[in-house]
Amino acid sequence: MGKIRIIYATKTGHSKKIAEAMGKALYVKAENVSTRPVLEDVDLLFIVGGIYGGESLPLLLNFVKALDRGKVKRAVLVTSCATKKHRQDSVRKLLQQKGIEVLDEIICPGSFLFIRFGHPNKRDIEEAVNFALRIAGKERERVE
Ligand SMILES: Cc1cc2nc3c(=O)[nH]c(=O)nc-3n(C[C@H](O)[C@H](O)[C@H](O)COP(=O)(O)O)c2cc1C
Repeated sequence: MGKIRIIYATKTGHSKKIAEAMGKALYVKAENVSTRPVLEDVDLLFIVGGIYGGESLPLLLNFVKALDRGKVKRAVLVTSCATKKHRQDSVRKLLQQKGIEVLDEIICPGSFLFIRFGHPNKRDIEEAVNFALRIAGKERERVE
């Protein structure tokens, strides 16, 4: 069975909320990158993060840069942003440079000032959880 981990980076708490809801559903602890989680033999890594001025947090980018090639096989991005247009492009690029396959990315709306006020709401979180369950289900079926 594939080993799954969930990490997140957050400025205003949305990514934490999303990551913890996903973690509860998958029985996996959601870990803040600020605690410098050590990743070993990970088959599937969920990376939950917000977007600020079109970019991911430097803390997250540095974490991904320092990931050990070969210790993570596949990644999935869960992106919290207000425009619903921005993605974790820099994170994706860094992962691909390391040969870590990015399977999918979901955008989960998150409020910023008056934009998307009230998000992520219950429904947004449910959508992210269902997405995570779908991907984790496929991962657990995977035979290598
Ligand atoms: C300083 C700042 C800059 C932001 N810039 C963007 C942006 O460029 N594009 C976007 O879609 N959302 C932007 N947002 C909205 C955040 O991506 C959104 O609130 C997200 O849910 C934050 O995640 P977090 O609570 O995990 O930090 C910005 C938010 C802040 C606080």
